[in-house]
Amino acid sequence: MNQALLPPQMQPRKAVEYELPLDAGAPGTCSTRHAWARVPPEPSQAERAELKQRIRGLLRARNAVMVSHFYVHPDLQDLAEETGGIVSDSLEMARFGRDHQARTLVVSGVRFMGETAKILSPEKTVLMPDLEATCSLDLGCPAAEFSAFCDQHPDRTVVVYANTSAEVKARADWLVTSSCALEVVGALKAAGHKILWAPDRHLGGYIQQQTGADMLLWNGACIVHDEFKAFELEALKKEHPRARVLVHPESPADVVALADAVGSTSAILKAASEMPADEFIVATDSGMLHKLRQLLPHKRFIEAPTAGSSATCKSCAHCPWMAMNALADVARVLETGANQIHVPESLIPQARRPIDRMLDFTAALKARGQTAASALVPHLGAA
Ligand code: 13P
Ligand code: SF4
Repeated sequence: MNQALLPPQMQPRKAVEYELPLDAGAPGTCSTRHAWARVPPEPSQAERAELKQRIRGLLRARNAVMVSHFYVHPDLQDLAEETGGIVSDSLEMARFGRDHQARTLVVSGVRFMGETAKILSPEKTVLMPDLEATCSLDLGCPAAEFSAFCDQHPDRTVVVYANTSAEVKARADWLVTSSCALEVVGALKAAGHKILWAPDRHLGGYIQQQTGADMLLWNGACIVHDEFKAFELEALKKEHPRARVLVHPESPADVVALADAVGSTSAILKAASEMPADEFIVATDSGMLHKLRQLLPHKRFIEAPTAGSSATCKSCAHCPWMAMNALADVARVLETGANQIHVPESLIPQARRPIDRMLDFTAALKARGQTAASALVPHLGAA
């Protein structure tokens, strides 16, 4: 049988470890939990060409558009762009999906991205290549525990990262992605708010350090970025003294401290194109290298090190859940209508509120050339 067309349940599974904070009241300790990811077979050149051709036709026939993240397979990134869709960071994926007139969105990424698309466009059909593609930040922030944590701190404004379930979003005042977290928290601080932040402890710590905001942090982590190693990065910098270092802020603080630029996937892309260097060490998921090399072929991109004495099977700098997105499944879901994202109707208004705030805030920032003060932001009241 054609390997690339194996049904998902027949594909090999890979064990993945993630951390779950033990005590929501004082989230300082973690237990190691186990999850899994599927490993889709890599199609041959001929299979790849045939699948892409089928998908192009299906997208037209179904009035559908592809919305892909920078970390998914290059085929899914290129096909999205080539067919009028988008490849981008999680913030622009949300905005594009909301604003596009297509009746069906095919979201290649991880589950929270599909859920965000559905919350913003309940009238659209949202399909994902694999509904079990999750995220360690989402897994490490269960809604009941998180809600209990919020109940213990009613004086704090709840700011959650997009990498969370719809239930967690429904408990939040604000949603952020790494593209806008600094600006949102900075504006909230200026308006006198104390923050309850979840789930990524590294991104939260970075924002706290940059803004000086009073932030209580949930203790989650991204299993991919958590693996970058400062000691080995310093050694790599010595081997490439002209290279500039680009770091996603989900990385540990000692890795961020070595960066020449820190930011979201799209900020990394911008920094690489604007910085007058021709060599870069990149500390984010290796899926990002495709777009960097495609847009900047005259520059050299080197993966930041994850190996070292404590390296594990997680240390490959590629998200096991992003890797679950496969061309064959895009074709299958478009053909069959399988893998629809459903978010309970009762949850949508509450979960949508913090997402709308983020999208309005970032639209205002853009319109005002990144100089918005809290007074310019419609949803931002004083504490
Ligand atoms: P961005 O918001 O930068 O696209 O990142 C999403 C993500 O999952 C990072 O690991
Ligand atoms: Fe989640 Fe990290 Fe994968 Fe992004 S790279 S989806 S934060 S586990």
